[in-house]
Amino acid sequence: MLERRALGHVPKKPHLRQRVDGAVIYEECLTRSGFDGAFSILYHQHRPHEAEPVPLETTPHPVELSPSRALLRRHYRCLELPHGATSASARTALLVNRDVTIGFLKPIAPDAHYFSNADGDELFFVQEGAGVLRSVFGDVAFERGDYVCVPKGTLHRFLPAPGLTQAWLWLEFAGVLGLPPAYRNRSGQLRMDAPYSHRDFRAPAAVAPLDEGLRDLVVKRRGAWHRYRSAHSPLDVIGWDGALYPFVLPITSFSARVGQVHLPPPVHATFEAPGALVCSFVPRPLDFHPDANPIPYPHSSVDVDEVLFYANAAFSSRRGVAAGSLSHHPAGITHGPHPGAYENPHPDKWTDELAVMLDCSTPLDPTKAALPLEDTAYHASFRT
Ligand SMILES: [Fe+2]
Repeated sequence: MLERRALGHVPKKPHLRQRVDGAVIYEECLTRSGFDGAFSILYHQHRPHEAEPVPLETTPHPVELSPSRALLRRHYRCLELPHGATSASARTALLVNRDVTIGFLKPIAPDAHYFSNADGDELFFVQEGAGVLRSVFGDVAFERGDYVCVPKGTLHRFLPAPGLTQAWLWLEFAGVLGLPPAYRNRSGQLRMDAPYSHRDFRAPAAVAPLDEGLRDLVVKRRGAWHRYRSAHSPLDVIGWDGALYPFVLPITSFSARVGQVHLPPPVHATFEAPGALVCSFVPRPLDFHPDANPIPYPHSSVDVDEVLFYANAAFSSRRGVAAGSLSHHPAGITHGPHPGAYENPHPDKWTDELAVMLDCSTPLDPTKAALPLEDTAYHASFRT
């Protein structure tokens, strides 16, 4: 997914018989798209495929769709979601389609088991909080304003920093999440005019066997949890190499493009997956034509459902939203600025807005968990 990295003990060639201090080490090849996509090879001290199934102690939030509703612009206040327990159990789906699950979580404690999501790549945006993502690839720290990417099938657990409020946007993709190919040159390097560089991405910087006393692994597959127990710590990796690993990207490392007049959202594209484009709106100068209207024009993007997560409230195009707001503008109806914003735009030359946007190519359905968070006056707020 990113460039190849290597940590710890990595043999001279893959698939060689290897011993370290007289003991056999075991490969685990984590591959995508069958064997055609990005892959990494991890080297374990023990056989990585010996965990046995054990009964579940807890189950995840069931994803239940809301009954069919009118086609309206919608607004959900994510911060009103109750605090959950751990990052695995607190993930609450709010909008779903076949390609992406959009949810939110407010974890308060570390998972007491390891977790592996076999349903898709996950991307978190940390609106509030900080912590450490611990995985078979090593630890990587994250903080407020970071994207945290956990590739499908990565054994991990989150350690939220104690004493901090945690509020994370959660995105799960059915297809492979990656960087837009247009940002790479023919050598696979990020281009010099890409909106970020290789140096902006943080990944685990060290790996060594670690025994936290935990033996249980929960695997999510087709929305259900399955629990397994191993005889040893699964964090027994002495080295790995490859292009598939968890990483962190601070949203403010995204270098926004600015035009003479308003540029469309894809210039903010940060990640993409089949059926979904993730864009970052970051503080930046506004359009510089002397007569430019810096407020987004009303638009009918008839092929996508558009979702905007507001990390702050510095948006002059919409009133009534706040940090933690999630708007859903479905394809089929026009949306645009609130009354007065387009007619009398503010004179500022700079915006402090911070948001994560998704363009989704199949219709999104709200879940029952989203309904108590809804601001039902939102659709009418577009009227004069
Ligand atoms: Fe829009």
